[in-house]
Amino acid sequence: MSSPSHPSAVLSETQIAFFHENGYLALDQISPPEEVRELGEIFERLFSSRVGWEQGRAFDLAGTDDEKNLPSLPQIINPVEFAPELAHTRFRGNALAIARQLLGATAEHWFEHAINKPARIGAATPWHQDEAHRYDPGVDYQQISIWMPLQPATPQNGCMQYIPHTHRGPVLEHHSLNDDSRVPALECIGAFDPARAVLCPLPPGGAAIHHSRTLHCASSNTTMEPRRAYILAFRSAPSSVPFREIFPWLQGKKTAAADRERAWKNRGGVIGRSSRKTWHALSRITCRIAGKISRTLRS
Ligand code: NI
Repeated sequence: MSSPSHPSAVLSETQIAFFHENGYLALDQISPPEEVRELGEIFERLFSSRVGWEQGRAFDLAGTDDEKNLPSLPQIINPVEFAPELAHTRFRGNALAIARQLLGATAEHWFEHAINKPARIGAATPWHQDEAHRYDPGVDYQQISIWMPLQPATPQNGCMQYIPHTHRGPVLEHHSLNDDSRVPALECIGAFDPARAVLCPLPPGGAAIHHSRTLHCASSNTTMEPRRAYILAFRSAPSSVPFREIFPWLQGKKTAAADRERAWKNRGGVIGRSSRKTWHALSRITCRIAGKISRTLRS
């Protein structure tokens, strides 16, 4: 992976204006082909090893995480925690530069995730607004997602689809997919016209950028290959607002992933992870000191 410190992607004034007018923007390339191949291998490994499952960071977005059924839409939250090399990509550097063009100089990396639509059984991602998932009482900010496919994204394998201009409206009513509170995915049940959808097919390493209020979805994967996407989310500097209630569709959520996360924390998962980090840091320091003593004694 190369250094992210020299972004090569810069949006034109026309592209910036298109994003603000429509709430989305498609780019042919945000990451070089070699890096996209490396990322493909990393995410193959992460998804096949079910990394993050125990911590509740990996789950089936479109299902109930029932062990009896194969997940139809696996998602990993913050995969960089499980593959630190993801912190040093051209994708990340370019995406941050673009985010600052669209949200202002204070824009910062907010979180990231990766979604796998398995071959033939990959489920559709329902129509939704990302902001419908948000629970940040007391603060407000602008948020964008930069969605990069690791293979061609097509109408057959689930490329992104957008309803233009919806970023200018309110957060519409949502419910849990299939009206099942165990399913993490939300589905918009407010008034909108799906016939206005614009499809965004992309080459590998291209990008679909959208505002957190832009209505979007992706169809199922009917092809013989998995469709994987790596998504970085950015936000503007948060500002204080009066306390807001949690969205009603989030109030009754009861996902298996949240249960796993709680159980993991109760077993000391976070402390365990901190302890491991501290242990590794102490080991490195001890090795350095031992090396210095050894060199001193030899000289
Ligand atoms: Ni989304």
